[in-house]
Amino acid sequence: MARIKVKAALESKPGEEILVKGWVRAFRSKRFIALNDGSCLANLQVVVDFESFDEALLKKVAIGAAVSIVGKLVESQGKGQSIEVEAIEIEVLGEADPEEIQKTILQPKKHSLELLREQAHLRFRTNTFGAVFRIRHAMAYAIHKYFNDNGFFYLHSPILTASDAEGAGEMFRASTLDSQNPPTTEQGGVDFSEDFFGKETNLTVSGQLEAELGAMALGQVYTFGPTFRAENSNTSRHLAEFWMIEPEIAFGDLNDDMDLSEDFLKYLIRYALDNCKEDVEFLDAREQKEDAQKPTAERNELSLMERMEFVVANDFQRISYTEAIRILENSKPYKKKKFKFPVSWGVDLASEHERFLVEKHFKKPVIIFDYPKEIKSFYMRNNDDGKTVAAMDVLFPGIGEIIGGSQREERLTELKQKMKDFNIEEEGLWWYLDTRKFGTAPHAGFGLGFERLVMFVSGMTNIRDVIPFPRTPKNVEF
Ligand code: 4AD
Ligand code: MG
Repeated sequence: MARIKVKAALESKPGEEILVKGWVRAFRSKRFIALNDGSCLANLQVVVDFESFDEALLKKVAIGAAVSIVGKLVESQGKGQSIEVEAIEIEVLGEADPEEIQKTILQPKKHSLELLREQAHLRFRTNTFGAVFRIRHAMAYAIHKYFNDNGFFYLHSPILTASDAEGAGEMFRASTLDSQNPPTTEQGGVDFSEDFFGKETNLTVSGQLEAELGAMALGQVYTFGPTFRAENSNTSRHLAEFWMIEPEIAFGDLNDDMDLSEDFLKYLIRYALDNCKEDVEFLDAREQKEDAQKPTAERNELSLMERMEFVVANDFQRISYTEAIRILENSKPYKKKKFKFPVSWGVDLASEHERFLVEKHFKKPVIIFDYPKEIKSFYMRNNDDGKTVAAMDVLFPGIGEIIGGSQREERLTELKQKMKDFNIEEEGLWWYLDTRKFGTAPHAGFGLGFERLVMFVSGMTNIRDVIPFPRTPKNVEF
């Protein structure tokens, strides 16, 4: 008999005999097995007539055990499910020691997310993380679908690279040199000419520069891959290894870029609402339960699903950086000296400022554009005012910056000047500069932090809880 998934079993009609395999979530009163195989949030109830089975066998049907069950689908007598399975054959494929289970998060009891994070290799088996990772999958699928349906090509940008695309110097080195005893140059530094690639190499911080090359031939491309940043920020929104989606559009300007970012985000959130209903509803209810135990001021004003519906239904607020500063300077928290970080034209906005604009002032997603050129990357296009660049950040409630993008400096002379200003050597980026020599054209793009998107559609508030194996400072155990 061919095995069917729990999801399919729950959608089947009574009468059929089926084979299901999964893990035991609970075994109540020696009679009801709650079986989960990961295909959906819901468990399949298996009813066991204990007199027809060997006692020693049933003892092994403990929480966490992997089992294979042949049974008959019948209409459920009990509440909570419409269909259940009457067990005919039970085979235990892998036992789980009840005493060991007691020490883990697999015991059926409510655990803190902190504890779940310590046992992250087991957390996939919990309802919460099952839901989060099914949603994460659906978002990855929807991203490819969106771009495919809109004429973009998936371009695989390299993970090993010799360039620092963001010019921020937060890179992990990739080397095969003997770390104990590396070859040295006459000046005494490490001699990277002897390294695998013959020059200093690192893990990529962004696939953008390569995506620009692709866009200047294929028209519209996107990258979707892991990116690495050795920024030592232990926050709930930063990872050392995260996934980024970077579309790049030839012949597009900053307005096209903002339009694309808004349409794209709305599409993805709509997709989650339409296709991950059971999981989103579960996480919504979970958040409401958690909120009920918090002081009113810390509770979410809107529920998870209300927040998602709201973003889909309303236009994002678009304001220039200059306007944003003006709003902040006229705000109550500024006048009452409640902001920790300074506000004046030219500063990088701190997360407290971004949150004020999004959560208190506009109460909706905000796109800030035209930032001071000094605080943004070298590749962003100079505006005619001589002070700002055609950059944009999309800010989301509860998340902060979810997207960062810009129109690119397509004029060779200007780009070379900017590289000089930012102390970026032309030598290593000759291939990038070449795009400005052979049929250069206006183009724009952005980067969406995949985990920040998953945070928004799952309601999880720590970025470690939306990636299967989080990498953060001092944390690479499993
Ligand atoms: O704003 P960033 O640094 O932009 C770029 O890397 C550009 N090359 C994108 C482009 O124009 N093609 O990063 C883009 C997004 C951020 O808005 C944020 O969502 C996410 O990537 N991000 C991180 N997510 C998790 N952990 C980190 N350490 C992140 N750093 C950036
Ligand atoms: Mg940014």
